[in-house]
Amino acid sequence: MLIETITGRVRQYLLGAEQEFVFKHIDSIDLPRIDKIDLYIHIPFCKNVCPYCPYNKVKYDKKLINPYVNAMLNEIEQYYERLGKIEISSIYIGGGTPTNLIDELAVILRKIRECFILTGDIAIETNPDDINEEVINKLKRYGVTLLSLGVQSFNDKCLTFLGRSYEANILPQAATLALSSHFESVNFDLMFALPGQNISDVINDLRKSFSLGVGQVTLYPLFTFPYSAAGKYLKLKKIKMPGIFARRKMYRAIHQFCLDNGFQRVSVWGFKKGDAPRYSSVTRGCYIGLGAGAGSFVSNAFYFNTFSIEKYIETLSSGKLPVALKMDVGKKLSRYYWLYWRLYDTYIPKKHFKELFGEEDNKIYRLLWLFKVLGLCREETNQFSLTERGAFWLHLMQNYFVLNYINKVWSVAMREAWPDRIKI
Ligand SMILES: C[S@@+](CC[C@H](N)C(=O)[O-])C[C@H]1O[C@@H](n2cnc3c(N)ncnc32)[C@H](O)[C@@H]1O
Ligand code: SF4
Repeated sequence: MLIETITGRVRQYLLGAEQEFVFKHIDSIDLPRIDKIDLYIHIPFCKNVCPYCPYNKVKYDKKLINPYVNAMLNEIEQYYERLGKIEISSIYIGGGTPTNLIDELAVILRKIRECFILTGDIAIETNPDDINEEVINKLKRYGVTLLSLGVQSFNDKCLTFLGRSYEANILPQAATLALSSHFESVNFDLMFALPGQNISDVINDLRKSFSLGVGQVTLYPLFTFPYSAAGKYLKLKKIKMPGIFARRKMYRAIHQFCLDNGFQRVSVWGFKKGDAPRYSSVTRGCYIGLGAGAGSFVSNAFYFNTFSIEKYIETLSSGKLPVALKMDVGKKLSRYYWLYWRLYDTYIPKKHFKELFGEEDNKIYRLLWLFKVLGLCREETNQFSLTERGAFWLHLMQNYFVLNYINKVWSVAMREAWPDRIKI
């Protein structure tokens, strides 16, 4: 509650009253003339649906797969008609579990290559349950360069709590296969701050990951979205989530263990070792999202496609784009959007910061000064860097940001295919 009040106040202080935080119903997207853009592809199917999961997904249903893929091919075609054969600087394939549609991904990627000029990386999320030689070979053939494996934990107690479909004993083989297949970068997703999990459990997960030779780990604290089955379950059973001091201790131990093992912090949640490119689980610049519930950020506005798989298919088959919601992003907010991702990266390059904010936005300089006084960030020659303390508090703010804002939009959008208006 305190953090919620703080985030709300900070938002009001920095952005004033003129920026509305409202997603409104729309049925078209404003596309500027652009030379290049990133793509996000959403595959909303999972063979096992985990109770804690907030993402837009349904249980894998063979009947839906062909219509969904055909709808996506149509969506690609429609963007091609509007944008022409522009450059695609990267593709991120998330879900759901994209590797559940391993053969269909070939068709989708072929279509993108036919319509556009793909110049950058292809990153994909995978589930350990899906990893075998055949799947890995296909991903390599498709040109996937960055891979993330949703390990979550090497501890059966935690995997059971999370309702994962596999036991820890399958993980070394899946991980070794992924790690030995010469992707440019492999990341493991791990989860912490689970009820009943202690510091040594988390450190053990890190120790196992490092001993397998992974170059990057991303540790997500469990978010309990009220609308997810786990959110309801925890409420019903009154299971207590770890409190703020327990989280603080856990985060400090994670940070220290990663540094001791030669890993550097690359985001509030991510640690990386060596020179391999960073696997990034979020799209930051301008991007177009394809698929049910996919988000886009283009022409100074955020958009969401309809979350309903049925309506997504139906709308595309009638020749229209399935966009459902739009929030305009004013000049001020777009600067803060940039800053939000720099904080997520845990450093702010001074040059770009000054170009964007100039000298006149005193509020932001006062806030940075406060961050420094509180020991949350330090000033270096070319950048401001978050300290370990700063990264923890920021992680907490982002946790609440995600819970409060994303939860509001996603929970309505999952209930209604075409919401009229969502105020956040
Ligand atoms: C779409 S999933 C990744 C691929 C695959 N579906 C899987 O679960 O292994 C994205 C990642 O988000 C994280 N995640 C999912 N639900 C979460 C939650 N409620 N709180 C925190 N992290 C979560 C997990 O670490 C997961 O690997
Ligand atoms: S966490 Fe991953 S596998 Fe589990 S339901 Fe969500 S998207 Fe599917």
